[in-house]
Amino acid sequence: MMTQFGKRRGIVLAGGHGTRLYPLTKAVNKHLLAVGSKPMIYYPLTTLMLSGIREFLIISTPQATPQIEDLLEDGSKWGISIHYAVQAEPKGLPEAFLIAEDFINKEPVGLCLGDNVFHGQGLSEQLEKAASIADKATIFAYAVRNPESYGVVTLNAKGGIVNLEEKPQNPQSNLAVPGLYFFPGNVVDIARELSPSPRGELEITDLIQHYINDNKINVSLLSRGIAWFDAGVPRSLLDSSMYIDAIESRQGIGVACPEEVAFNMGFIDKEQLHRLIYPIKSTPYGEILSHTFGLRRR
Ligand code: DAU
Repeated sequence: MMTQFGKRRGIVLAGGHGTRLYPLTKAVNKHLLAVGSKPMIYYPLTTLMLSGIREFLIISTPQATPQIEDLLEDGSKWGISIHYAVQAEPKGLPEAFLIAEDFINKEPVGLCLGDNVFHGQGLSEQLEKAASIADKATIFAYAVRNPESYGVVTLNAKGGIVNLEEKPQNPQSNLAVPGLYFFPGNVVDIARELSPSPRGELEITDLIQHYINDNKINVSLLSRGIAWFDAGVPRSLLDSSMYIDAIESRQGIGVACPEEVAFNMGFIDKEQLHRLIYPIKSTPYGEILSHTFGLRRR
């Protein structure tokens, strides 16, 4: 697969059945549902853009992939490149790396799950740092009240990993592992060695465990100033929408708008930003963007 923008690659995994959001997801793919004023998939995409990645593969279901492509197109208007691939059945998160083998081309890669929403102070710096490490994996850790719903990591006093488990009944810590991971270029080889867990899926925790065993992993603690939502259940879909809306309407500044992130990251220039905003400037989304950039009509 040809790449235009250097080595860093990013994958957004946006398939699955969305069972926990039924019936919202009976006819519409979860990642096309609204979080605040924009489709859910804008959030993982812009999260990876903030890490400096400009070369993307979006993986989704046979039905939703063409719809997501209608939405995001080839990325060129945002100064990025977006490719698409289909996952026939949700066989587990690490399958993303097997599907993306040609795209990854043995280079380091970031994966963001399509329903993960991140926002907050210092996030960009943490992301850029993680994406710049080529020979180790980076996972993140975030203190939550309900760790049993997530991958859970337990750290020692020096910040080293002593335990990692997927949705443990009795979590050993309150640190969830969000759906955002950076791996070295050997990730495809390691994913290929995995076997399905008792629930029949390839598990991301098993993949990460390889890097723990080899001592080739960093854990980046997300601070209290950062918000993280897994918007895949009704409550968190609502919570994340309300959070984003509160920030945008109070501050008048867009969150997770690819137009804005592309401009701030230097992927597009001011002329292109204006070209993007002008046709949509009277929509609520366009108004937030205009306001962010001081382009509001007087
Ligand atoms: O959100 C963070 C959590 O995400 C982590 O803490 C867990 O370790 C990780 O396993 C994952 O848990 P979930 O239960 O949230 O995973 P879920 O099956 O909901 O899938 C997450 C996203 O990935 C969702 O947007 C659907 C998509 N997906 C999932 C699978 C298993 C796919 O596109 N294909 C798949 O095969």
